[in-house]
Amino acid sequence: MITSVQNVLITETCGLPHLETKPEMPFTRNILCIGAGYVGGPTMAMIAFKCSQYKVTVVDINPERIAQWNSDDLPIYEPGLDQVVRAARGRNLFFSTEIEKGIRDSDVIFVSVNTPTKTFGAGAGMAADLQYWDKTAREIRKHSRSSKIIVEKSTLPVKTAQAMEQILTCGDNGVCFDVLSNPEFLAEGTAVQDLENPDRVLIGSSQTPQGLMARDVLVEIYANWIPRNKIITSNVWSSELSKLVANAFLAQRISSVNAISALCEKADADIQEVTRAVGMDSRVGAKFLNASVGFGGSCFKKDILNLVYICRHYDLKEVADYWEGVVKINDYQKERFILNMLQVMFNTLARKKICLFGFAFKADTGDTRESPAIRIAKRLMEEKADLVITDPKALNNAKDDLKGVDGNVSYIEDPYEAAAGSCAIALMTEWSLYKGLDYEKIFQTMAKPAFVFDGRNILDHPALFETGFNVFPIGKPPLTHF
Ligand code: NAD
Ligand code: UGA
Repeated sequence: MITSVQNVLITETCGLPHLETKPEMPFTRNILCIGAGYVGGPTMAMIAFKCSQYKVTVVDINPERIAQWNSDDLPIYEPGLDQVVRAARGRNLFFSTEIEKGIRDSDVIFVSVNTPTKTFGAGAGMAADLQYWDKTAREIRKHSRSSKIIVEKSTLPVKTAQAMEQILTCGDNGVCFDVLSNPEFLAEGTAVQDLENPDRVLIGSSQTPQGLMARDVLVEIYANWIPRNKIITSNVWSSELSKLVANAFLAQRISSVNAISALCEKADADIQEVTRAVGMDSRVGAKFLNASVGFGGSCFKKDILNLVYICRHYDLKEVADYWEGVVKINDYQKERFILNMLQVMFNTLARKKICLFGFAFKADTGDTRESPAIRIAKRLMEEKADLVITDPKALNNAKDDLKGVDGNVSYIEDPYEAAAGSCAIALMTEWSLYKGLDYEKIFQTMAKPAFVFDGRNILDHPALFETGFNVFPIGKPPLTHF
């Protein structure tokens, strides 16, 4: 455990403090982040931006990603991120592939590697795949020459910090490690504002004197720009579990609304009127109640499945089944959307041109991981529809996602060009761009009868109907000319 006062390092070696002087130390702290992805990159950019007294280095095994972080064309699209990176890069923010050097030189290491759902062996399709995490722990142990604070930034199953500590402390080099849990709650598309002004920062630590000292180091880092009352602390297991539960609760809200949207369509109710009435109860709150074609993103599904797996591990069958229902409803919602398209377009989509407006899993990101659009596109292609996909930021990822899938698909950035000649537009992503299009002009270029399936309920449905479209929102009565 290390704290630094000007050029003097106060080092706790296995509980024994000793002082050592460093020759020239322009920065008061050396922070490393392993994993330069959607979390590691923006989070470290914000720390460097807010704390010019720290040197922040982000390393990754993927040299292409690092090269992009060092270029004008960042590897991820996030509003406002360019400015933050540009302000700090080269000053106190560095992107590098030199993992070994990074580990050696640092006193605080954030680990933000990917933790996808396991695709093989025990727990396949449910448990978190911890191979990247395990490998990182071993690298840290191998290259560390001084004691360090290790910060779990990745989302991990409960008790991972313990496993990490066991891997780290099995060496015989006398180096000590304190493992903290500091889950990230940023959402893509709003990452910069979430990092700058988070609802809370959560830090889990062991309750030993050394664990609490490590915790305080991390509290100090965040306190450079975040009010103290928003920095909350807990034990490590609560912190790890809180992250999974936070995502499960958010996803559960969407599945609850989407489940009711199915009922609204049968009962001639309007889901937006229902959620407005329900959300005005201050105990419920109005946010995160938008019915949709389904939630996507790299984390909701994987984190819930991980939670389910942990519950099954502890023999909590009813609890596991309850949370699994959230994922099942999400799959049901996507399938319902497709079957509805098929049915209202006269039970055949074969050789019909269908245009997907948006492919990203949400607006303001180019990320398509677990995007509902992937499943919808594949199902439409199974029905032999000819697809045209348009999206302002996600077309390259869409091409990767649909590589090798059997069927006709083209990618066109301009939405007017993309929609021309189509029988239907299926809106997948709530890009605000799609609200402002000239739908009269689009209608003129489409095959008739022309359909709009609004998978996000963002368009002006009565106006589209007036234009001549047959309009199918989510959880509202359709507006048709038949
Ligand atoms: P990502 O896939 O974008 O980035 C992970 C990076 O880690 C990749 O660039 C990969 O090359 C690198 N990596 C893997 N193994 C490595 C190793 N041994 N050494 C160095 N680099 C290595 O993932 P992400 O979206 O940034 O997510 C990271 C973690 O954060 C996950 O656990 C995720 O659940 C969690 N999380 C993600 C978000 C989000 O919005 N994406 C939000 C909160 C939490
Ligand atoms: C989510 C959480 O919001 C973050 O707090 C968390 O840190 C992150 O997961 C993570 O752990 O990765 P993110 O997936 O980036 O963030 O984006 P969200 O805004 O949560 O949206 C997730 C999905 O739900 C999107 O497909 C979105 O379109 C959908 N959604 C959201 C709805 O369908 N309806 C809503 O009302 C809100």
